[in-house]
Amino acid sequence: MSGVPFGDLRAHLSPIRAEIDAAVARVLDSGWFILGPEGEAFEGELAAALGAKDAVAVANGTEAIQLALEALGVGPGDEVVTSPLTAAFTALAVQRAGARPVFADLDPETLNVSPEAVARKLTPRTRALLPVHLYGHPSDLDPLLDISRSRGIPLVEDACQAHGARYKGRPVGSLSGIGALSFYPTKNLGAFGDGGAVLVNDPGVASKLRRLRNGGQADRYRHLDPGINSRLDEIQAAVLRVKLRHLGAWNERRRALAALYLAQLEGCGLELPREQPYAHAVYHLFVVRHPRRDALMAALRERGISTLIHYPIPLHLQPAFASLGGRPGDCPIAEAAAAEILSLPLYPEMSDEQARAVASAVRDLAPRVS
Ligand SMILES: Cc1ncc(COP(=O)(O)O)c(C=O)c1O
Repeated sequence: MSGVPFGDLRAHLSPIRAEIDAAVARVLDSGWFILGPEGEAFEGELAAALGAKDAVAVANGTEAIQLALEALGVGPGDEVVTSPLTAAFTALAVQRAGARPVFADLDPETLNVSPEAVARKLTPRTRALLPVHLYGHPSDLDPLLDISRSRGIPLVEDACQAHGARYKGRPVGSLSGIGALSFYPTKNLGAFGDGGAVLVNDPGVASKLRRLRNGGQADRYRHLDPGINSRLDEIQAAVLRVKLRHLGAWNERRRALAALYLAQLEGCGLELPREQPYAHAVYHLFVVRHPRRDALMAALRERGISTLIHYPIPLHLQPAFASLGGRPGDCPIAEAAAAEILSLPLYPEMSDEQARAVASAVRDLAPRVS
């Protein structure tokens, strides 16, 4: 076998190529490219598929988070408690909304924020919680929702990596009433370009989001709110309508590959992801831990196996957030994890043979890299 790539978007497109070509052609023939029937249909189909009352499509996941916070009235002077181990875009979105990200340390088993750590970070300025369903594994929402209710502050779910994941049997993303999705091409549901959406249950918040994404316009050229341009285009919406129909099967394939990895990698000196009793994970990423991660990554690369690190630098130590005053030692669990985590290739089009080749190389190398 000639190596295993980290992902393969051409293999992903190939079996649905005819459906995608027809969808794109339909938009080109319609002559309508922004905020039209495809986007509207996609919003309805997405909300129905993920158990939300409504969905508002936007230009990317970052702005989905930013606009969700803004629609809830979060802004300058407010603090938003979130994870230090996530795509930087999560916390950048908080800053774009004018608020201050506050990082709470993690549950060492799931690498999602620990509800106890979140409770310790609350101040009178805390105006929202923003847990991330990292790697497609749901955060433990109930204790976080208890905090949100007892404080009277909203909880926005960052479900950008968790389309179709379930918490206690229900899809994440709007269990708190509002959450953000990204349709970056490699996501479980990805566009062929950028895209995002806010899942939302409150009709008033949904209308505000529809204004905010379109320059704050209530109707043409009447700007009610200081919004931005964050519209999903009709071509991406048409693509996403096709791909949404395959999401369940793709997620099942991801789970089957994860099961294969888990069976093959048990007992070889790696820490493996553990699906919690409350969770139905969708394995956006399959992340293991190893004390000599960099050596393992290099040895796998020599055998043609691509891996990545999600994420090597916790956000409180990133230069972009230096103004927040974070220091090493602030989030010890996140810092220890960032030094050891390694994402193995896992994507729906990967064959069992490829997954077995990865597992066999990892099993061989993990006990002896130094
Ligand atoms: C957890 C998380 N939050 C937010 C984002 C931002 O999404 P986007 O890249 O669509 O802006 C991403 C993806 O990059 C993500 O993985």
